[in-house]
Amino acid sequence: MSFHPVEQAPGRLNRSELAVPGSQPQMFEKAAQSDVDVIFLDLEDAVAPDEKEQARKNIIKGLNEIDWGSKSMSVRINGLDTHYMYRDVVDVVEQAGERLDLIMIPKVGTAADVYAVDMMVTQIEDAKGYSKRIGFEHIIETALGMQNITEIAAASKRNESLHFGVADYAASTRARTTIIGGVNKDYSVLTDPDADGNRATHWGDMWHYALARMVVAARANGLRPIDGPFGDFQDADGYKAAAYRAAVLGCEGKWAIHPSQIALANEVMSPSEAEITKAKRILDAMAEAEAAGKGAVSLDGRLIDYASIRQAEVLVEKAKQISG
Ligand code: GLV
Ligand code: MG
Repeated sequence: MSFHPVEQAPGRLNRSELAVPGSQPQMFEKAAQSDVDVIFLDLEDAVAPDEKEQARKNIIKGLNEIDWGSKSMSVRINGLDTHYMYRDVVDVVEQAGERLDLIMIPKVGTAADVYAVDMMVTQIEDAKGYSKRIGFEHIIETALGMQNITEIAAASKRNESLHFGVADYAASTRARTTIIGGVNKDYSVLTDPDADGNRATHWGDMWHYALARMVVAARANGLRPIDGPFGDFQDADGYKAAAYRAAVLGCEGKWAIHPSQIALANEVMSPSEAEITKAKRILDAMAEAEAAGKGAVSLDGRLIDYASIRQAEVLVEKAKQISG
């Protein structure tokens, strides 16, 4: 290990994260009763400008009056380039800060953006005498945010997670997309002709670089990498394929922009029974190897070593967290 310790963010379950517009309070109760891990009540892009004030009031009332159970509660504030943002922070944290676990900062571009919100939240928490500190979730969804992702990830002790905001990221980078979070057939490779002169097209994942970059920045700073939205909520297979790709790279959660996507995210982001059993067998085999003075052994014909222990421990720990 490096001599540089990586402090881990609080171990919050974040397999699924449901977006609920603050302007639609009739949706709050259903969200509270769902199986989602984290809910973000939105003040930003799902809320029209003339509804912002009422949405803020709905969110404050909802946070204070609804029983959200053990869910983690977040509010997506407006961007730092708008005049809504300061009132979002002041009103929501002053009036509902006790039930708020997280603030989601959209379109974060620099470490100074994080510093500014941190300063405001710290003052309000101190003035109100809150004992719990609110954490930060950052949406990486602009070219600027991606460029500065390393500094953003390290910018505050409140930081808990980085989220890939694929829709705005596409707009910012002028990527050619069709649906939010979907793939594009033009991002593909054409194989060389086979003996009969036939060529095949293999679709690629145009989001690979962005997601992989975010996973590294998040993990290097002890944060959770979370994949963002998938727009076609009728396409469960498309959603799962996107979620699996993110999970394989190291993401531990994905947004749900519709309640039907919650179960899909929870399924993909939870270790399967087979994986848990395998992880436990690895830990047992390595314990035996260690007792016999060995650092590596073979299990089912494959080499396992101390790196296998670390992977297995992460998996078993996650399973424990899920079973509560
Ligand atoms: C989320 O905010 C996105 O832009 O994808
Ligand atoms: Mg966005």
